[in-house]
Amino acid sequence: MALDVTRVKKDFPLLDREVHGRRLVYLDSASSSQKPRAVLDAMDDVYETHYANTHRGVYAIAEEATAAYEGARGKLARFIGAAADRELIFTKNVTEAINLVAHSWARHNLGEGDAILLSEMEHHANLVPWLMLREERGVELRYLPVTDDGHLDVNDLDRLVDGVKLVSITAMSNVLGTLTPVREVADAAHAAGALLLVDAAQYVPHLPTDVAALGCDFLGFTGHKMLGPTGIGCLWGRESLLESMPAFLGGGEMIRDVRLDGWEPTEIPWKFEAGTQPIAEAIGLGAAVDYLEALGMRDVRAHEIALAGYALRTLKERYGDDITIFGPPDPNDRGGVISFTFRDVHPHDISQVLDESGVCVRAGHHCAKPLMRRLGVGATARASLYVYNDEADVDALADALQSVSDLFAR
Ligand code: ALA
Repeated sequence: MALDVTRVKKDFPLLDREVHGRRLVYLDSASSSQKPRAVLDAMDDVYETHYANTHRGVYAIAEEATAAYEGARGKLARFIGAAADRELIFTKNVTEAINLVAHSWARHNLGEGDAILLSEMEHHANLVPWLMLREERGVELRYLPVTDDGHLDVNDLDRLVDGVKLVSITAMSNVLGTLTPVREVADAAHAAGALLLVDAAQYVPHLPTDVAALGCDFLGFTGHKMLGPTGIGCLWGRESLLESMPAFLGGGEMIRDVRLDGWEPTEIPWKFEAGTQPIAEAIGLGAAVDYLEALGMRDVRAHEIALAGYALRTLKERYGDDITIFGPPDPNDRGGVISFTFRDVHPHDISQVLDESGVCVRAGHHCAKPLMRRLGVGATARASLYVYNDEADVDALADALQSVSDLFAR
């Protein structure tokens, strides 16, 4: 194993508890990850020693809070290879990051007859803002299909991207774990004169990320899936694009001047950060980045390839045709997100029975209803892995599935 998971587990207080008298086996990190002590301490420290509002006060603790908040921005910018800190905007989550682009860039640049290319494997956060724009502006939406084994089908990419102004795709499916060919899509988008927005909610927490190498123009990711707090996410955008875009939310701190008859926005990134920000959350997310960097993102990825491979093999060997696992069979093509159905047992029943053994998995449509329809299912159960999971956790899932098998005997 690339990571010393026994040591990593000790850093996560919540993983020490039991549920229903059983060891907690947390396999729902694609939904939200647990937090290490270092993140909890960083947030306590803000509140206990230097909490004040940022960018407003000129007294010592306000300057300390501002420095810590802007320091977190710098850490996050470096973590994804941004060219400058000012390219990194704090948002609430990826949903808000995508809505920011939809409201600011897209409503400013797109109208009737303009086309946007999405894919069939998108999360609702990367579908609904564009469906809203279609209703409002009459833009055309096109979709890259999904192959039967869960890859993004780019065979028809050149034809589908022709005439498009924006491509917006996930870098890793939250249902299938599929890694998509972002660079190939970026090159095709740019050749067609389109921009590329990447939903990296499931990608940034799990792989080394370099926005320059990915070739995208915007990228959204969120703190709570990468060991950080909820309520804090990021939109990265190319500096020249962000400069050219109108503000999103209006309010305090995003202005240079306000008169009774008008206003001017301030510079990026603050132009897009109206109102008091989630200060402690941003600082907590900075601590999460420190933690992930200390583990090493290459080792995080190597660990997940090995563990996802082990999980795919173990579940198939134990349950054969009783289990259907969706997504690419090769762990190198995917992250540690394993969606499955078990015979005809409803995924909610699977999740509930697993819970009795202390095993937490998500069940449902995973905010990806069009993909569920493509897969021909209403819902799946989904186990998702992270840095604090090991083979014993996968074995616990496999063992707990025996209870599902026994309870719902053929
Ligand atoms: N987007 C999160 C998930 O896939 C909530 O579970």
